[in-house]
Amino acid sequence: MPVAGTPDEALGMTRAGTATHPSPVVEAQVMLTRASGAYDVLSLSVPPAPMWERTRPGQFLVLPGDPARGRTLPSLLWVAGVSVDRIHGTTVDVVVPAGHPLGAAQEQRLLGPLGRGFGLPAEPVPALVAGHEAAVTPLRWLVSQLRDRGSRVDAVLSADDPDRHLEVGALRRQAASVVLTTGAHLERAVTDRLDAEPELAVVFAAGSRPQVRAVAAAARRAGRAVRVAALDLAEPVLCGTGICGQCDVPVDGGARMLRACLEGPVVPGEWLVDAAG
Ligand code: FES
Repeated sequence: MPVAGTPDEALGMTRAGTATHPSPVVEAQVMLTRASGAYDVLSLSVPPAPMWERTRPGQFLVLPGDPARGRTLPSLLWVAGVSVDRIHGTTVDVVVPAGHPLGAAQEQRLLGPLGRGFGLPAEPVPALVAGHEAAVTPLRWLVSQLRDRGSRVDAVLSADDPDRHLEVGALRRQAASVVLTTGAHLERAVTDRLDAEPELAVVFAAGSRPQVRAVAAAARRAGRAVRVAALDLAEPVLCGTGICGQCDVPVDGGARMLRACLEGPVVPGEWLVDAAG
């Protein structure tokens, strides 16, 4: 049965990834670059620190602008995974477009980890993840954590070019089902999946702002809890620490502005639906 009207508390949803401001500056070393379709997956060696053990899917790093290296504006890097090993050190994975200058850098100063990530249900709960192209990065990590806790996970992934689907094979090994579609049909595919699988109780989404609004609306119509990442890879994240206002998005029916990097980026999807009217 759908969990229509079920408060998030009933699912044991937790807020996670406590915001870490002022943001730590991290000197990272690029240890490994792995090509993956339209993307490069980079493994960054970072100094060990307790914050990495608390880092969650949905938290992010900021890559500062560097005109000398062809980057005029800072950019958002979703954390794709963290490995903490007392012997081999701490490694943070990120995903960048193929050929991105960061892949050729030996050392790079970054800000992070920043923001609040996706909370995990306290008990195993069937979940649907929905994401578009590289925004799927935090969802892949989230799927692993949900599966580790015994949750069934289904996935709807969109891309406007098949090459821009991010490592679908790995996700197929973990998810009960994976539906591929285009960005324009993401909302429809989510609605179809929720109609077909009434036991799916919660939706986690990442993509462009219009896409996460649309997915949140679909989840709400279907009576499911929904959490979305409210930062958009297509928009610059100038500071990532709540100072500049670049990431502000109207919520609560336009009654207030959400400073996504500071209050989120993961927020209840209902906030964005209300803002869309
Ligand atoms: S990116 Fe500057 S306030 Fe969010």
